[in-house]
Amino acid sequence: MGIFRERIAIDLGTAYSIVAHESSAKFLRIPSNIALDAATRSPVAYGDDAKIMMGKAPVNQFELIRPLKDGVISNFEAAGHYLSYLVQRSRKNPLALQYDILVCVPWGATAVEVKSYIERVKSFRTSIKLVREPFAAALGCDLDVFSANGCTVIDIGGGTVEISTIAHGHMIFCSSIRAAGNAMDQMIVEKMLRQKLFEVGVNTAEEIKMKYGSVYPEDDEEEFEVRGLDRRTHGPGRTHLRTETLRDFLEPLILEIENRLKSHLKGLPPDIQRTVLSQGIYLVGGGALLKGWKTRFQKKLGVHVTIPEEPQYAVIRGMQKILSKPRLYRSLLKVSQANH
Ligand SMILES: Nc1ncnc2c1ncn2[C@@H]1O[C@H](COP(=O)(O)OP(=O)(O)OP(=O)(O)O)[C@@H](O)[C@H]1O
Ligand SMILES: [Mg+2]
Repeated sequence: MGIFRERIAIDLGTAYSIVAHESSAKFLRIPSNIALDAATRSPVAYGDDAKIMMGKAPVNQFELIRPLKDGVISNFEAAGHYLSYLVQRSRKNPLALQYDILVCVPWGATAVEVKSYIERVKSFRTSIKLVREPFAAALGCDLDVFSANGCTVIDIGGGTVEISTIAHGHMIFCSSIRAAGNAMDQMIVEKMLRQKLFEVGVNTAEEIKMKYGSVYPEDDEEEFEVRGLDRRTHGPGRTHLRTETLRDFLEPLILEIENRLKSHLKGLPPDIQRTVLSQGIYLVGGGALLKGWKTRFQKKLGVHVTIPEEPQYAVIRGMQKILSKPRLYRSLLKVSQANH
């Protein structure tokens, strides 16, 4: 059956989409960016190629789009092209008779949005199933989503932060913030301009955040160089930034995440609160790679945090588990189709 049936998981993200086969250890990570020709509206570049064009390509010639915003489809035309591209990239065996594709959607997406995902990928010889992202994230952390004790996972992605507590294979409580990694990049761009009269693009801002970003003071604070456009000279220039200053730039959103987690935990049933105290919580998504989350949540909220290795791949790993044991996880898929 294996040769003629390909099982593929697609984690369609606001910032990056990840594609994997049922049991392969190699993942394809593609920026969720697409460039359309402004005149013909046909796609000219996808992924990395389209991301590089951001802020560089002539705006009247190309339309540079991130098809997802806040974790859900915001541009249907672009999303359709982008999803077809992902499916095409993920197919290994052109002779396969059937493609089973599992796509994840945020907990907060409505039924209409969920339906739109299906319509976009559905085609000849392709069956689509959906799973809500928090279930996949928890499975990717090797947590038992069917246990009565419950488990709590925070996913800090590009477009959304979702805090989910799951027990008995159901969502007990989900809190979300519709701003995450992309918003952090934007905060860096704005604050560099306002406080330092220095202009950097979002891609540079993201690079700075990934390399030097932190959420709690560290022993090895340092100063680093940033290249961009100096507003005072109106020419290319360099400036210096300290890691503490970068942390201050991000603090409003980091504090919002911390406060949301605090109120999420307070709202949980007492039994599950006890599990949180004994087992702690799990942190996944690309944003989990910012330095200092563990110390911050431990010191400020008294909560123990586990971050799995490569937290940006937790969702896709969980999706692979579902693909490999469809019967075991059937009920999760059923819950995932419903509106919430
Ligand atoms: N080392 C790092 N430090 C800080 N942030 C990082 C790091 N690596 C990646 N990120 C950020 O993580 C975000 C992407 O995470 P992820 O791939 O989990 O999001 P997504 O699935 O695309 O978004 P969403 O789930 O919200 O739709 C981006 O904003 C990226 O800049
Ligand atoms: Mg995600």
